[in-house]
Amino acid sequence: MIDEAVNLLRQGKLVAFPTETVYGLGADAANPAAIARIFAVKKRPADHPLIIHIANINELEHWAQNISPLAFKLAEKFWPGPLTLILKKQLHVLDLVTACQPTVGLRIPRHPIAQALLKNFGRGIAAPSANLFTHISPTTAQAVQEELGDQIDLILEGGACEVGLESTIIDLSQGEPVILRPGMITKSAIAETLGVTVKIAGEMPAIRTPGNHFLHYAPATATRVMNALQLDNFFHQLESNHPPFALIAHSQAYSVRATRDRLIILSDQANQYAHDLYQTLRSLDTGEYQQIIIEAVPLGEEWTAIRDRLFKASGSL
Ligand code: TXA
Ligand code: MG
Repeated sequence: MIDEAVNLLRQGKLVAFPTETVYGLGADAANPAAIARIFAVKKRPADHPLIIHIANINELEHWAQNISPLAFKLAEKFWPGPLTLILKKQLHVLDLVTACQPTVGLRIPRHPIAQALLKNFGRGIAAPSANLFTHISPTTAQAVQEELGDQIDLILEGGACEVGLESTIIDLSQGEPVILRPGMITKSAIAETLGVTVKIAGEMPAIRTPGNHFLHYAPATATRVMNALQLDNFFHQLESNHPPFALIAHSQAYSVRATRDRLIILSDQANQYAHDLYQTLRSLDTGEYQQIIIEAVPLGEEWTAIRDRLFKASGSL
């Protein structure tokens, strides 16, 4: 399978592959026609740059220049793993990949199939998440198959993704490190490794924030996040003939009465919750429910990336 995938990539075809975060839609990062096809298949606007996946830290200098020592510290600590570094790009990096920005996103994923693919291909693989623009990222091969299967040349099966949310993206191309997209590698873990303060974008609106399009990472079904008080009110005001809803909770405090409604209890541990979230949203996004309601998650730092994705899925907190 890996040999076939490598051959397809060499021919400029698209191969979906598992990473530990989510499934990626991969193409040869140096082949403009293949990159253009990624944007066409995803229906993604050209101003959203792609992450280049590499096999080995030695390849960093092929794609990036003026690399901050902080980047090497983070790479040594967290690679292979769910962290993307934004660095000043080498001039040969395609404008199609970087959306004409002077920077490039780079990551070494740790999923064994991603690693085998990258090692055997021997070059960088540009890969966004393997979903249509603004939809939820896929965390199983079946989700990729259902969403984009007829347009992809091969999907490598790698089981359910271990992390389940997209990588933490950190910009090291400016003076100070800035997290552009929170992920399961937290700000504190990064700050501790670097020994410097780290900001999260948002406080800095001038910076281009990944996924800042209205309703990114979103189900098609109307989705709302509710705190305990809002949930109490919701249940209180529920009429007996209400349209069916699905509730995703993480505490055991809730139950639904009508059989056409659905209750899913996810873990109260952030890692397990992250692992299950997208698959759960996908399974509920079938048109069967008029709305998906999500119990607000705790405020602790390990929940930051989850809160970010719930906000983007619902437009509310
Ligand atoms: O976990 C992940 O990061 C997954 C797996 C497949 O590696 N990939 C992923 O790619 O989530 P994508 O394209 O769905 O999201 C990447 C985000 C985009 O929002 C893009 O705008 C941002 O990264 N990005 C990429 N290159 C960038 C750059 N040079 N500067 C700022 N943002 C960048
Ligand atoms: Mg994406």
